[in-house]
Amino acid sequence: MKRIGFLTSGGDCQSLNATMRGVAKTLYQMYPDVEIYGILEGYKGLIYGNYRLLQSRDFSGILTEGGTIIGTSRQPFKAMRTPDENGLDKVEAMKENYRKWNLDCIVILGGNGTHKTANLLREEGCNVVTLPKTIDNDIWGTDITFGFQSAVDIATTAIDSIHTTAASHGRVFIVEVMGHKVGWLTLHAGIAGGADIILLPEIPYDIESIAKALEKRTKEGKRFSILAVAEGAISKEDAALSKKELKAKRKNNPFPSISYQIGKEIQDRTGQEVRITVPGHTQRGGAPCPYDRVISSRLGAAAARLIIEEKYGYMVGFRDGEIVPVPLEDVAGKLKMVNPDSTIIREAKGLGISFGD
Ligand code: F6P
Repeated sequence: MKRIGFLTSGGDCQSLNATMRGVAKTLYQMYPDVEIYGILEGYKGLIYGNYRLLQSRDFSGILTEGGTIIGTSRQPFKAMRTPDENGLDKVEAMKENYRKWNLDCIVILGGNGTHKTANLLREEGCNVVTLPKTIDNDIWGTDITFGFQSAVDIATTAIDSIHTTAASHGRVFIVEVMGHKVGWLTLHAGIAGGADIILLPEIPYDIESIAKALEKRTKEGKRFSILAVAEGAISKEDAALSKKELKAKRKNNPFPSISYQIGKEIQDRTGQEVRITVPGHTQRGGAPCPYDRVISSRLGAAAARLIIEEKYGYMVGFRDGEIVPVPLEDVAGKLKMVNPDSTIIREAKGLGISFGD
């Protein structure tokens, strides 16, 4: 009899349930009596021993349900080796519960931080198989993460909706897109939504170039402009600062986010009226899009296959349309960023999109 833990960690996304369903359904085919431990609220549940035994019926009807049926939380990797407020050694506690529950493996669904802790558990002797979750699409070793495409759809819808009002009023609109330190989501939503200017963390911007691009559009008779700005976008000036200098500078920054700063600078330089829209967490909400349902089902099935073969210590990735197991030690601690010299950027520039560089 197999005993498998399921754990979802970090920020949620639309396709977590669909992925767990993919794992569970495949496992039930092979082992009808498999016991699935739903470890509650991410690594917190593994540390403090909180779980719920899941039944086959728990996985029915959740293909289209956003969020996670077992909850999630952020437990920073860098704090894992620090005892909690009661002196509890978190890593030892996780290992202890893993042993106590007699688990054969834990299936861990998460992003970059989650993968570092998953790798730590592997190093500590626990069997783990991981799945790449995040709307940011920044996990190394996989072309795509589940959740990303659903978030692209939502961010694109936000830009689409802005188009009509921007056109009526002849304004500059900024749509701020999530993505943490990378620009995948902004790049894809920006292209899909027909943004005129796209600002990414990987391509630091010059506010003068942005102003020039806007003025060019005005001269061409365009009454409005739309900017898709990544929440992690950064100016050339700030990108040249050390981490410490940047932190000190940002401490005194009066703007709630980068878009507000860019908006003010545009208004000051061009005199054009600017409005800001921040779709925020709506980008992580709602039902997964059909594309995510498909890759989640496939990745989930492949994770179950690894468990059946007792092939542990891998993330199930997606490369060139194929599912591949990627060793966890290769994934942990790396970030997949947009390459400023990649063809997608060249093509976007060819379409006349400005990156503010
Ligand atoms: O990693 C997913 C993500 O949505 C990022 O795009 C964003 O920067 C972050 O999580 C927001 O985190 P939280 O939900 O903790 O505010």
